[in-house]
Amino acid sequence: MRRSAVAAALVASVVAQTTITDDASVASSKSFDYIIAGGGLTGLTVANKLSAAGKTVLVVEAGPNSEDVTSVNVATARGGITAAECNWKYDALGDDGSALGWQIDSGRCLGGSSSINGMVWFHPTKPEMDALKNLGNKGWDWNSLYPYMKAVEHNHLPNDAQRADGANVDQGLHGYSGPVNVSFPDAMRIPDAQRLYKAAMPLVFEGLKLSDDLSDRDNSAMASTSWTIWNDESSGTDVVRRSSAAHAFLYAEDQQRSTLTVLYNHKVLSVTFDSKIKATGIQFGPSDGGSIMTASAKKEVLLASGSLQTPPILERSGVGDADILEQFGIDALVDLPAVGRNLQDQPGTGASALVNDANATNTELIDNINLFAPVISLVNMDELFGSNSSAKGAALTKSINAKAQAAVDAGTMVSKKSAQAVFGAQANLIVRNKMPIAEVVGESYPSVMTSVFWPLLPFSRGHVHIASSDPFASPAITPRLLSDDFDVSVAISVAKKAQSMFTTEPFAPVISTAYVDLPEGASDDDWEAWYKKTAYAASHWLGSSSMLPREYGGVVNNKLQVYGTKNLRVIDASILPMPITSHTMPAAYAIAQKAADIILGKDKSVN
Ligand SMILES: Cc1cc2nc3c(=O)[nH]c(=O)nc-3n(C[C@H](O)[C@H](O)[C@H](O)COP(=O)(O)OP(=O)(O)OC[C@H]3O[C@@H](n4cnc5c(N)ncnc54)[C@H](O)[C@@H]3O)c2cc1C
Ligand SMILES: *[C@@H]1O[C@H](CO)[C@@H](O)[C@H](O)[C@H]1NC(C)=O
Ligand SMILES: *[C@@H]1O[C@H](CO)[C@@H](O)[C@H](O)[C@H]1NC(C)=O
Ligand SMILES: *[C@@H]1O[C@H](CO)[C@@H](O)[C@H](O)[C@H]1NC(C)=O
Repeated sequence: MRRSAVAAALVASVVAQTTITDDASVASSKSFDYIIAGGGLTGLTVANKLSAAGKTVLVVEAGPNSEDVTSVNVATARGGITAAECNWKYDALGDDGSALGWQIDSGRCLGGSSSINGMVWFHPTKPEMDALKNLGNKGWDWNSLYPYMKAVEHNHLPNDAQRADGANVDQGLHGYSGPVNVSFPDAMRIPDAQRLYKAAMPLVFEGLKLSDDLSDRDNSAMASTSWTIWNDESSGTDVVRRSSAAHAFLYAEDQQRSTLTVLYNHKVLSVTFDSKIKATGIQFGPSDGGSIMTASAKKEVLLASGSLQTPPILERSGVGDADILEQFGIDALVDLPAVGRNLQDQPGTGASALVNDANATNTELIDNINLFAPVISLVNMDELFGSNSSAKGAALTKSINAKAQAAVDAGTMVSKKSAQAVFGAQANLIVRNKMPIAEVVGESYPSVMTSVFWPLLPFSRGHVHIASSDPFASPAITPRLLSDDFDVSVAISVAKKAQSMFTTEPFAPVISTAYVDLPEGASDDDWEAWYKKTAYAASHWLGSSSMLPREYGGVVNNKLQVYGTKNLRVIDASILPMPITSHTMPAAYAIAQKAADIILGKDKSVN
């Protein structure tokens, strides 16, 4: 029980308390209506909804409880979150299986990645969500997903001082009664730098315009962003607090449930099946290894371990590519080679410029506060490629077959048909809908201006698979960032333009050295080499349990059921088959709420 006896006694009638514990006896050999693997963003949201409907639910989370961890709770302290507190820190691997030298951040505690993430909040667009339906997923489109994005949000409108420093909200687009707080920090960060970025970006990316709100866009946009935070002024110290899925759906006083049991520090190893491949429960054990226990699910097992861990659970359970499973002595109950493929993320890096001495002490310009990305620009191909845009678009459309073949050859897509469908839909968004293809973040760090950027709709794909017969072992994650030539050309262009911003007005007068990273006049080959050397994952992993028709490389159908099985669904962000042009939280919250409605039989649109 999470509340002390004293606290509980102070409440007149404590009817329901969620059980949150690392004592496995609450789950071992016990039975629940639903078992959820993973207590991250989607797992806790679905657990909340199902337990509210009176179902008994067990959530098993590999990481610890982070309820009292200051660096998790205080938004501006996120730089201090340690691996033990909440981060898997996986090694990124190359094609030959060797470590690439950078780590993959991924939340490993209650709340999952929502407990460590950058908290940036803005919506994806209608064409992107409608593309899900066009790919064969009945009931999945903007009209069915957007209400869930609104439902989860409690937007706190900016005050006059915040507005004067760049905050703005298109009020009709947001929700005001959900559990997740969305706000601008009070006071706003680095307002002088925000003004400079907003003035400079359109000079470098011609055609880009200042927007009211990043959620309010047909395609490209530039605005100050809001975050999943709230300004806690109660202590008088103006603390900016994180509003994670755990805060919103698990810890909140008004969200307690006697029907919900959350076991942390325990890892789900596999799903158990009966002879008809109907899921009957899970095998789990202490996260650092030990004896293996079981729990049974009267209704269903729901996988919510995220894009990097849901596929390995499927593989250990006998659902995956039979050839891969065989290498580790696992019998294939369902030969489903799409499991773990189509893995994708955006390749990020940044360019920095030194601020001159006269301006370096201005905290309205540089504040050394870690609240990522005060100004965000989403740039489309016209703004990035200028007069070369239409030629680039035509070449992209023509290259889809070759891209599909290359992905099949690299083992990242299951078939040419699958890759053509997904890449074709993506190219359509880029060329026809003019969706943004690069994100540029205006930031500052001590003594430098930094613009962080990444291609937004990359075609590069990777894979994640089990790599050991030890059920407790980490999976092998092979991101293959920037393995596609279109992605590389986007990366080079955005990097060069972002860097050039610092050499021209209005930045030039506050900058002393504009080329911290590369010499002036570096060639495209130099930029490419630099980008590849410095790139890391933007942490928006998707795709590895794609929702698509089975013949198009799907792992789950439009009801999120794993092909070839019964009573088993994937309910996390890994079901999205393509990258999206917003950060992933709003879509992930929408997936989770829709999943709960599908499971409870409330969503008829998927039938
Ligand atoms: C560093 C970082 C920054 C980000 N910044 C932003 C941002 O600014 N804005 C935004 O919108 N999105 C951001 N994201 C992305 C967003 O947080 C994720 O897309 C979202 O949390 C995905 O939800 P999920 O439920 O699929 O996975 P997660 O929230 O990651 O949850 C998965 C959970 O499963 C657990 N788990 C894994 N394996 C097992 C197992 N075998 N057994 C039991 N439990 C297991 C994990 O520990 C984790 O708690 C960021 C992510 C990261 C990592
Ligand atoms: C949301 O903000 C309110 C204050 O406005 C606070 O009391 C509440 O705890 C916050 N909830 C979450 C989930 O962040
Ligand atoms: C930079 O410093 C100079 C000299 O103090 C000052 O005039 C100018 O306004 C400063 N620029 C910004 C953007 O703060
Ligand atoms: C168009 O491409 C050519 C050749 O790569 C390049 O030199 C030129 O700068 C590009 N023009 C724009 C507007 O990006």
